[in-house]
Amino acid sequence: MTEKDFLPFKYISKKNTGKVNWKSPSNIALIKYWGKKENQIPANPSISFTLDTCVTETTISYQKLDAGSSKFSFELFFEGKSKEDFKPKIETFFKRIEVYLPFLREYHLKIETSNSFPHSSGIASSASGMSALALCLMSMERTFVREMDNDFFIKKASFLARLGSGSACRSIEGPLVQWGKHSNIEGSSNLYGIRYPYNIHEIFQNFQDTILLVDEGQKQVSSSVGHDLMHGHPFAGQRFAQAHTHLSEFRSILAEGKLKEFIRIVESEALTLHAMMMTSHPYFILMKPNTLEIINRIWSFREASRSNVCFTLDAGANVHVLYPEKERETVYEFIQAELLHFCENGKHICDRTESGAKDMFKNTDT
Ligand code: DP6
Repeated sequence: MTEKDFLPFKYISKKNTGKVNWKSPSNIALIKYWGKKENQIPANPSISFTLDTCVTETTISYQKLDAGSSKFSFELFFEGKSKEDFKPKIETFFKRIEVYLPFLREYHLKIETSNSFPHSSGIASSASGMSALALCLMSMERTFVREMDNDFFIKKASFLARLGSGSACRSIEGPLVQWGKHSNIEGSSNLYGIRYPYNIHEIFQNFQDTILLVDEGQKQVSSSVGHDLMHGHPFAGQRFAQAHTHLSEFRSILAEGKLKEFIRIVESEALTLHAMMMTSHPYFILMKPNTLEIINRIWSFREASRSNVCFTLDAGANVHVLYPEKERETVYEFIQAELLHFCENGKHICDRTESGAKDMFKNTDT
């Protein structure tokens, strides 16, 4: 599919008022997206686990305006309070997507959104937030056309979410979503995420992700700045090629449940992401001393216990501790005994993989 396929259908009727409501999950990348081209095209393909507990719920109540407006007409409430400082980001998003959803200027939108995780936790809300918003807008569009099949609905929601925040396009379905063109992955695209199309061993079902909140502060360097610094980065070419190789290797790892190999790639991806930050110009470090303490404890525990626990990192200091469900008790005991004191006030979130966003009005999954 190309961008043109996402231009709107003919609208048969536009409802005067209505309400839509979606709950979208966050996701954690196993093979990382870091570096992008124009129009939110990723510099390399990525794959992520869709999460369950970390979610954004968004409701849009819409009302047709008497005359089309030259400005986007919307109000934004975050956790029940009007949130003016979030509006410019939404405005930019609307500008990017209005060619695909031309009804946007014809409605007043009341957007109410809330996160299941604390706002200051350092957990990025852009993936779940943009996904929920894109799905709400798609639910609106679906009522204006004669027919829209579910596959198209999901693809276009992912396509739109990507224009809000790249990783958001992986927050529509689950449990594993791949985004970015890869020669060995059928149906893969730079424009939207797809549910991983090959066999996934049962060991990866219900995989656990305990998120350790090491640093709750605002990040010193945003992801957009980080992505930008991959332009002209001395190691960019090798890094992008490595992501392709890792994804090829993932096929048999995922199909056959090869946990040792899984760990090798996932941890290497996390450290490579941070190595890219440390070797860009200007260089920066987002890990904190406690991030490294936790990594070392995980390695010692794994060595001593033969566990299959491993870690990954996003663009911050928090650590995602990943492990199979059957090791849940032993690993969680270890986390409590040895890792929680490295977190701010012991804060952590027990999450796991899930199947994707939910339409809260229909009570159905994507
Ligand atoms: C390190 O999706 O937040 O989490 O497209 O600029 O919104 P924008 O960036 P964003 O980048 C995520 C980077 C990452 C890796 C990943 O999720 O693949």
